[in-house]
Amino acid sequence: MAIHTLVQVVLVVTLLNMTLAPTNANVEGDALYALRRSVKDPENVLQSWDPTLVDPCTWFHVTCDGDNRVTRLELYMNNLVGSIPEELGGLKSLVSLDLYHNNLTGSIPASLSNLSNLNFLRLNTNRLTGRIPRQLSKLRNLKILDVSNNDLCGTIPTSGSFSKFSEESFANNSRLEGPELVGFVRYDTGGGCT
Ligand SMILES: *[C@@H]1O[C@H](CO)[C@@H](O)[C@H](O)[C@H]1NC(C)=O
Ligand SMILES: *[C@@H]1O[C@H](CO)[C@@H](O)[C@H](O)[C@H]1NC(C)=O
Ligand SMILES: *[C@@H]1O[C@H](CO)[C@@H](O)[C@H](O)[C@H]1NC(C)=O
Repeated sequence: MAIHTLVQVVLVVTLLNMTLAPTNANVEGDALYALRRSVKDPENVLQSWDPTLVDPCTWFHVTCDGDNRVTRLELYMNNLVGSIPEELGGLKSLVSLDLYHNNLTGSIPASLSNLSNLNFLRLNTNRLTGRIPRQLSKLRNLKILDVSNNDLCGTIPTSGSFSKFSEESFANNSRLEGPELVGFVRYDTGGGCT
């Protein structure tokens, strides 16, 4: 009987907790906070990024729209060292992602292909490696892409939005092999591209 009551109490407490949980959880703040955790920040430009705030709209270098959705992330030229976390793909309203002129390593997350509102993607002048995720070519609103001055490899996607970008977007990646020739060179061939 006592155990039965205990189970009931636990159940009620659990349900209460679920009801009282914030409905407007800081999902975008969590995605941005993954970036803070992922990089070294010698100039402390991410110091104002407090994940306990209700949303990240007051954080420095973050811009939101009227619905408190993150639209711009502007962290260029800050000596950030580390990788771009895939969680950034969760910022569905992002229009502008500017991470150029840092010291970012690792690959470009394929999850960025979920940012369907993205107009500007500038990742140039870092130390990014690996392939350019082909899924990025489905970003129909992408107007400016710059991944120049990195260490990317593989071939350059040519479909979708990538058909409008010139060689300049990809310059100075000594291991990048030039535009993918659809139906001729297979995108995924060639080892050693990491
Ligand atoms: C990037 O990192 C390399 C290696 O740690 C270092 O030599 C270089 O000064 C850094 N560059 C910038 C812009 O932080
Ligand atoms: C894009 O978002 C969907 C739905 O949230 C998710 O299932 C998928 O894994 C994401 N794609 C990538 C490449 O991360
Ligand atoms: C490529 O590197 C050269 C030499 O460092 C530099 O002059 C040029 O501006 C770079 N190109 C781009 C598109 O960044």
